[in-house]
Amino acid sequence: MATVRLLHLSSAFRRHGGPSSPPLPRRLFRLYNRVVRSFSTSMSPPSKAVVYDEQGAPDAVCSVRELPALPIKDEDVCVRMLAVPINPSDINRIEGVYPVRPAVPAVGGYEGVGEVHSVGSAVKELRPGDWVIPSPPFSGTWQTFVVKEQNVWHKIDKRTPMEYAATITVNPLTALRMLEDIVDLKSGDSVVQNGATSIVGQCVIQLARLRGIQSINIIRDRPGSDEVKEKLKKLGANEVFTENQLAVKSVKHFLADIPEPALGFNCVGGNAASLVLKFLKQGGTMVTYGGMSKKPITVSTGSFIFKDLSLRGFWLQKWMGAEKAKESREMIDYLLSLTRSGELKYDMELTPFDQFPTALDKALGKLGSQPKQVIKF
Ligand SMILES: NC(=O)c1ccc[n+]([C@@H]2O[C@H](COP(=O)([O-])OP(=O)(O)OC[C@H]3O[C@@H](n4cnc5c(N)ncnc54)[C@H](OP(=O)(O)O)[C@@H]3O)[C@@H](O)[C@H]2O)c1
Repeated sequence: MATVRLLHLSSAFRRHGGPSSPPLPRRLFRLYNRVVRSFSTSMSPPSKAVVYDEQGAPDAVCSVRELPALPIKDEDVCVRMLAVPINPSDINRIEGVYPVRPAVPAVGGYEGVGEVHSVGSAVKELRPGDWVIPSPPFSGTWQTFVVKEQNVWHKIDKRTPMEYAATITVNPLTALRMLEDIVDLKSGDSVVQNGATSIVGQCVIQLARLRGIQSINIIRDRPGSDEVKEKLKKLGANEVFTENQLAVKSVKHFLADIPEPALGFNCVGGNAASLVLKFLKQGGTMVTYGGMSKKPITVSTGSFIFKDLSLRGFWLQKWMGAEKAKESREMIDYLLSLTRSGELKYDMELTPFDQFPTALDKALGKLGSQPKQVIKF
């Protein structure tokens, strides 16, 4: 219908001789412009996407494909994606081992940042050029254009460095919630964590320091671990140990003047989780939020009987129910403001979209320890 009307109007416009002829009746000109505008924003551009048709090893099942243009309905916003990370949970979704996973065929990616390309007729709060991030739960960010309803998109401050905007939701928010929600920590207290080089780990260090909380950090033994220690200390880590350094019966003497932690974070499992438990004080709690080593957690009987330790889990997706939508956006804005002021930073590597396979290999650990891979479109 819009097409027919547009053709009709455009031939009237052409018959009239175009803009160099005497002015068209103003009403006809306005109508023509409105129809042209609505017609030109009614379809998205085609999207180039990382698609998988079945679950499996990401480097085997993912391929880059062009997806057809999509209609932009009244409430829709078409976003040109600018940058997206490859997170461990993205990999787990593609592998089919994550508890929530999109139906296949699917486009990869859960978070990212984009620029509004065009909006549907009922959209008032967003306009072309705005920067937006999708509010979880979301999937399918690994593509050049995404079309979703306006309420999905959270407008952010464009002064934010793009790679931070792309990565703010999943990991920094997890670090913030785990520090705030589990144990009532006060300035001067301490926390212990493994996987301290992860984005969550780097955020825990800095967000803890901003609250006056000290951090004891455990990293893997790997080439360059001395430089890694220095890097983490520059971020505000009070102590950093490799797992091998802690292969002793008691770790208490490593604490020096740091109080015993009541809270520990585990994203590795296996021996690295046992080391977190070793540091915890009587009645302390270890929160598990990841399992990078794919090894189970073993807890000695004495840890329960004599130390009364508690084990808990944290899953951001569960925490972020619909009722937390407003709160989540406020926290994301807070975290983004910290990235702009330089109080929150973490290691990332920006990789152009056409080198996606290399970035994926790095994210899969095939090339050893690597910074977080962020794809730039
Ligand atoms: N529960 C939740 O809601 C939630 C939310 C966000 C993230 N997470 C989880 O948190 C963890 C960290 O995520 P991230 O995105 O921050 O990580 P990341 O920046 O991608 O870094 C990966 C981390 O895992 C370590 N690692 C990789 N392979 C390992 C292995 N085989 N054994 C031991 N450590 C290994 C790396 O150590 P090196 O630096 O030594 O290579 C690095 O510290 C992941 O398990 C992720 O799924 C959970």
